[in-house]
Amino acid sequence: MQKQGEILFRAKGLIKTYGKRKSAGAFTALKGLDFEIKRGEAVAIIGKSGSGKSTLMHLLALLDKPTKGKVLLGEEDTTKLRQKELNALRNQRFGFIFQSFFMNANDTVLNNVMLPLKIAGVKPKERRERALEALKAVELTDKANNKASDLSGGQKQRVCIARAIVNEPEVIFADEPTGNLDSATGMRITNILFSLHRNRNITLIVVTHDADLANKCHRQIRIADGKIVKDVLMPNHEHVPYHDYDVDGIADETERFVEVEE
Ligand SMILES: Nc1ncnc2c1ncn2[C@@H]1O[C@H](COP(=O)(O)OP(=O)(O)OP(=O)(O)O)[C@@H](O)[C@H]1O
Ligand SMILES: [Mg+2]
Repeated sequence: MQKQGEILFRAKGLIKTYGKRKSAGAFTALKGLDFEIKRGEAVAIIGKSGSGKSTLMHLLALLDKPTKGKVLLGEEDTTKLRQKELNALRNQRFGFIFQSFFMNANDTVLNNVMLPLKIAGVKPKERRERALEALKAVELTDKANNKASDLSGGQKQRVCIARAIVNEPEVIFADEPTGNLDSATGMRITNILFSLHRNRNITLIVVTHDADLANKCHRQIRIADGKIVKDVLMPNHEHVPYHDYDVDGIADETERFVEVEE
């Protein structure tokens, strides 16, 4: 059952250390993060290069495991899930727009978009119909049968979006979805993401250096040196997707604002 405003992610004491021994260059990229994300939120994760944004995104998206702490999805402690269960959960509930999750360049655009449905065991005819529908949403119907490698950068990003939405996910994770694009194309990608967010109530979690994109999100979490240094609701936002922040006592920007001494 989906309920607007319900808590979707709870991060508890998240710590991520890469490598085992300090002498061998072990590095703690996340230093104990606690926060919640509700269904229907659009959250920008911002901060300098190397601050830990992608690391955090990978933990939330259940692509990597924390060294300490946990991520709850709804009531479920995801650290208890087996790899197979994690894979199925990601396939069914999440969509990814990650630069490292790139497409199969030699395959057609349509096959790339159909892939998550194939993994989910959807029958070929339905796969095709749904993939074409997703391509229509990003205005790339005419490129369905082209090789993925033949597309422009912005078109490739749109194929990634089509692939991310084809399973009708609850959450879209996007890591720099407008990176390397000119501002007009970036704006177009941003608009597609936000129309999906509004019209299909998809929770958006976006890592970005793009101020336009970050400012369209109603919440911004700033990471510095592996810690949350700011967590703000943007005032007067056009789309606040739920209305029960007051109930939780975190509606007020000042209450929500966390400034950590460094
Ligand atoms: N696999 C890894 N092994 C060791 N250190 C890593 C690994 N992945 C990331 N790091 C380190 O963890 C820190 C955080 O990296 P992360 O990729 O999360 O940064 P980021 O905020 O996404 O940066 P950017 O904006 O450049 O993408 C960096 O100092 C990075 O060097
Ligand atoms: Mg990154």
